[in-house]
Amino acid sequence: MTSKTILVTGATGAAGRSYVTAFARAGHRVRAAVRPGSPTAFLSAVEVRPTDLHDAAALRAAVEGSDVVVLALAGRGRDAAADEAAITRNVARAASVAGVGHLIYTSVHRADEPTGVPHFEVKGVLEQDLADLVEQVTVLRPTTFADSLTAPWLRDRIVEQGVLASPIGLHTPISYVATEDLARVAVASLSAEELRQHPVVVTGSRPATYADLLPLLEQLSGRAISYEQIPAEVVRRSFGTDLAAMTAMFNSAGFAAEPSPILHDLQLVPQPVQDFLRESWTPPSDPTPGAARLTGRAG
Ligand SMILES: NC(=O)c1ccc[n+]([C@@H]2O[C@H](COP(=O)([O-])OP(=O)(O)OC[C@H]3O[C@@H](n4cnc5c(N)ncnc54)[C@H](OP(=O)(O)O)[C@@H]3O)[C@@H](O)[C@H]2O)c1
Repeated sequence: MTSKTILVTGATGAAGRSYVTAFARAGHRVRAAVRPGSPTAFLSAVEVRPTDLHDAAALRAAVEGSDVVVLALAGRGRDAAADEAAITRNVARAASVAGVGHLIYTSVHRADEPTGVPHFEVKGVLEQDLADLVEQVTVLRPTTFADSLTAPWLRDRIVEQGVLASPIGLHTPISYVATEDLARVAVASLSAEELRQHPVVVTGSRPATYADLLPLLEQLSGRAISYEQIPAEVVRRSFGTDLAAMTAMFNSAGFAAEPSPILHDLQLVPQPVQDFLRESWTPPSDPTPGAARLTGRAG
């Protein structure tokens, strides 16, 4: 495959880090757009472009000369969905003006449904906006990132106290995808036209509940683990109404999905969450637990 210049926006995020790694490994020239002042030591192998995505001039400079722009963005602030819409449109407009021919967009499973979750529903609108601006768009609709299971907010209490504390219910079925597998699909979309024709649901093979995963987590962490549900009110106060709506939706409907059939055809079906955990759960004595797989929220 010819080497391309790929701009990854949101390169310090959970998905963004994996996109950077995957495109660089595949032999492409990667530019990582990061918020000015972000720590970038882990990006030493690629070109770093400090860029606030609200700054149109900086964004134009970052996008210039790119063949492909990857969007791995989450909004910040009180109205995170509106912020996400603004920065996503800013990136797409800059790409359109610069003549970039291909966008790879990180959406979410169920983006096109009335879920009542602002940062999901806004993605349904953004998917359409992007298609109006740039000719080729890969829309990836991942389920919950498996990496969130190894994130410090969840893992540290498991390892230190034997408590799995989460707002997601013990028996709520969730389909997971590791961001490294999501990134493999993104890389494949450079050459596989089929991945640019319809939104692609990217998820591992079977949904799992915490109750399903507890025995494996106990085995991997070498201790008994009890489950504790973080109350909805605490989620709302600590993380806002958007994430509270998401956890309420998960707990009432689950978040289960099947991978899009095209992933079977292209042999790109993500690994089961259990395999991801076996491979990435660091032993309790490791001083940098989960360091390579930091992630923020669960959807
Ligand atoms: N996490 C999941 O389980 C999951 C599952 C399915 C879909 N998704 C979707 O996938 C997307 C990526 O998720 P994620 O978990 O990777 O998000 P994340 O870890 O929060 O990363 C978001 C990235 O966007 C950057 N960003 C935001 N505002 C910016 C600005 N004004 N200028 C420059 N950079 C800015 C952030 O930089 P700063 O950190 O400096 O703000 C960060 O690098 C999101 O849209 C999310 O909804 C996530």
